[in-house]
Amino acid sequence: QGNYNNKIDYVFKIVLIGDSAVGKSQLLARFARDEFSLDSKATIGVEFQTKTVVIHHKNVKAQIWDTAGQERYRAVTSAYYRGAVGAMLVYDITKRQSFDNVARWLEELRGHADKNIIIMLVGNKSDLETLRAVPTEDAKEFAEKEGLCFMETSALESTNVELAFLTVLTEIY
Ligand code: GTP
Ligand code: MG
Repeated sequence: QGNYNNKIDYVFKIVLIGDSAVGKSQLLARFARDEFSLDSKATIGVEFQTKTVVIHHKNVKAQIWDTAGQERYRAVTSAYYRGAVGAMLVYDITKRQSFDNVARWLEELRGHADKNIIIMLVGNKSDLETLRAVPTEDAKEFAEKEGLCFMETSALESTNVELAFLTVLTEIY
């Protein structure tokens, strides 16, 4: 983990948001520990994990915050977004509703986070192609219109997970 020396050059706070059960916690588990669980429990309150990566020869510590998609379990909104320089707005490609709700998550994000925050729209569960309910083109178009980065991922198969986080971290840098 990290560069030859242990010096941390930057710490970047990234927040995960999106509906319940879209896979936020498993994306984080995959990225931070290369783990995945099929019987993941709904997050209550807020959790975070860190992972140090090297970007342009600098040690960058990503401090990734994860909260509940369910309203009643959510962390205090303003505290959650405070100091965040990146956000992963996650939906499930097999759940149309989770994509339809992206606009609301974006509204909350824009209302609470720094205006220069880097946002990645993430369509997770790309391994479930046969159950797809959100065409890639629809999400791509929405992302372009809103000025977001966009990627489809699978926490289960480990597809694009590292790339999605590294892209956000590199954009922040
Ligand atoms: P909340 O904490 O309630 O907001 O949900 P969450 O967004 O953190 O969802 P979580 O990571 O707990 O995942 C919900 C369910 O989806 C679990 O059963 C996971 O195993 C499953 N899951 C997550 N990512 C993937 C994926 O890429 N593919 C498939 N097939 N299942 C996934
Ligand atoms: Mg969770």
